[in-house]
Amino acid sequence: MWGSGDLFTAEAALQMLRETGADAARIARGACGYPWIFRELLALERGQTPPEVTLREWRSMILRHVEMAVADKQGLYRLQRPDGAPQPRPSRGHPRHELSDDEAERAAIRELRKHLLWYTRGRRGGLAFRRIASELHTADDVHRALDRFFPEDGSVPAEVRDEPVSARQLTADDA
Ligand SMILES: Cc1cc2nc3c(=O)[nH]c(=O)nc-3n(C[C@H](O)[C@H](O)[C@H](O)COP(=O)(O)O)c2cc1C
Repeated sequence: MWGSGDLFTAEAALQMLRETGADAARIARGACGYPWIFRELLALERGQTPPEVTLREWRSMILRHVEMAVADKQGLYRLQRPDGAPQPRPSRGHPRHELSDDEAERAAIRELRKHLLWYTRGRRGGLAFRRIASELHTADDVHRALDRFFPEDGSVPAEVRDEPVSARQLTADDA
């Protein structure tokens, strides 16, 4: 039996599991921009304190997401059908247009923008990031924007110093 709906923190999921006796939690929007919710729930279920999400982890998760989204768009994960396997019906409408690698990258980043906004929401630098999000077209653009607003050394750039913060702040690994 699944328990599901409006679980936005690992604590809320644990409470739901305890109160309802459900076998497992399904988490959808709570994981958007915060995939660490799963490891946090696992830790809580084991009676452990979940590890903090460090700035380095946070940045590399975003960059990995970007890399995978681009690779996916470029067809890297496309299902290879063995010889003789039934082929999909040709789609009606527009003939399939193979994207060049650059087109695929741009398409992937465009689709990923909402995830980038989820990742950065509520963090210092998130408002500045939101303002330039429509200018992000390539993986390099995303990398540069992270460096600009969320530098790896954990420093707070002057241009975002006055931003209000509602999410937990990230700690630099060496902080
Ligand atoms: C972005 C998103 C993706 C989802 N993906 C799946 C899925 O792949 N398989 C599935 O069974 N349910 C999926 N669901 C449904 C959720 O698992 C869940 O049952 C319900 O929508 C509660 O979502 P919430 O945690 O956002 O409140 C998805 C829901 C959302 C919002």
